[in-house]
Amino acid sequence: MEGDAPVVGHPGIVIRPSSDADVPAMIAIYEHHIRRGVGDTGEFEEERLLPDDLKRRRKTMRKKRLPHLVAERNGEVAGYAYAVPFRKRPAYRYTLKHSIYVHPDHLHAGIGRRLLPALIEACAAGGYRQMIGYIDGKNEASLRLHEACGFRRVGLLPAVGYKFGRWSDSVMVQCPLGSGSADQPATWRPSPEAIVSGHDWHGE
Ligand SMILES: CC(C)(COP(=O)(O)OP(=O)(O)OC[C@H]1O[C@@H](n2cnc3c(N)ncnc32)[C@H](O)[C@@H]1OP(=O)(O)O)[C@@H](O)C(=O)NCCC(=O)NCCS
Repeated sequence: MEGDAPVVGHPGIVIRPSSDADVPAMIAIYEHHIRRGVGDTGEFEEERLLPDDLKRRRKTMRKKRLPHLVAERNGEVAGYAYAVPFRKRPAYRYTLKHSIYVHPDHLHAGIGRRLLPALIEACAAGGYRQMIGYIDGKNEASLRLHEACGFRRVGLLPAVGYKFGRWSDSVMVQCPLGSGSADQPATWRPSPEAIVSGHDWHGE
């Protein structure tokens, strides 16, 4: 997708595939949310995300037809979103899980409402059939965003996280992609090796 035209355009907001030039901005957004711990991230990371890691991961994702998108607002990177395999085993090859992060200066300005549908559309176009998200039970913004974009709550994992001195619940949400489970998947199959190497992802 790299180098393609923007996939979605709205006044002031453009959604497009990320490029290597976006990596520093994406890392800054990610690190902000790690420090705050408001998303699916904790209060510490064993290893910091380095620019070369993110560039390598983007390259791997392109090979697997997995979208890695940024939202630009008035020419500035205001958020990013991507999807990775839900599980390594081949049976789960049509199911993805995703992450979305919006820049602290651009929260609640409609970026998520543009970016998440664009990610859903790109994943559906890649032949995937289901998308899963895990959301901290206290993350109202993310819960509402996902609900507004067609995700349904399908599970609650109580007290599976521990950060900032408290246990946290994870809410599991799911959205069908394209025709979902209504028909058989197309003949497209990612190779088993591609699936198996899918554990090495940013944000996992
Ligand atoms: C969750 C997140 C991506 C939402 O992005 P955003 O660009 O601020 O969201 P939007 O402005 O598009 O708002 C989408 C919906 O979310 C809700 N929302 C957004 N910010 C909110 C807030 N602070 N409190 C409550 N609801 C909020 C609104 O209901 C909004 O719907 P509306 O159009 O009916 O008002 C953003 O808050 C974020 O990056 N959070 C930190 C990282 C994170 O939690 N990622 C998700 C991990 S699962």
